[in-house]
Amino acid sequence: MCKIVKYKYMDLVFATNNQHKITEISSIIGDSIPILSLNDIKCFDEIPETGDTLEKNAVQKARYVFDRYGHNAFADDTGLEIEVLNGAPGVYTARFAGSKCSPADNIRKTLQVLSGETNRKARFRTVIACIIDNTEYLFQGSVGGAIAEEIMGEDGFGYDPIFIPDGYTQSFAQMPMSEKNSISHRGRATAEFLTFLRGFLK
Ligand code: IMP
Repeated sequence: MCKIVKYKYMDLVFATNNQHKITEISSIIGDSIPILSLNDIKCFDEIPETGDTLEKNAVQKARYVFDRYGHNAFADDTGLEIEVLNGAPGVYTARFAGSKCSPADNIRKTLQVLSGETNRKARFRTVIACIIDNTEYLFQGSVGGAIAEEIMGEDGFGYDPIFIPDGYTQSFAQMPMSEKNSISHRGRATAEFLTFLRGFLK
């Protein structure tokens, strides 16, 4: 059991260049813990992401900021894990159809690989790694579902148009964002992370 040191004040760097993610998490966490961006700490580096698991990638990104910039930091990594593909594309989800592929390419490839397959079970999994005072903490959230037979809906991003979460008939791309966030892998991982962070504050 680790001992949690209580802080009166703590800021955290979110090791991502995705402004949308920073805005989203800041709005959830509120003012109690200011979330800094890479820009805020003048980090303009291309942070390496060379791990072969979501956990390794998330830790690698958070550790990069902690080691080089001296800030407590966190990072996330998400993968789509398809059962009949033994968990692929997993850590390679963003590049499933090739190194410079678009989300549409990834969707096309997924539908093609699963063509004629009846087991379409899949899950999204998000891992968040946080480094505070050189100690690593890991959190995760996942949502089970199925890969649709065809594109369903236009909203959302990434694989949203072909992912139908368990208990629903709509894809993520057909749901209001608030509904998706309430059941999503990222929403669940963030909730776990937040519970932990609150423990640090007096
Ligand atoms: P990242 O680690 O958050 O950058 O996610 C890696 C890849 O997973 C993204 O490029 C997307 O293709 C996919 N992805 C992550 N989260 C979602 C989601 O909520 N819906 C659909 N695709 C997602």
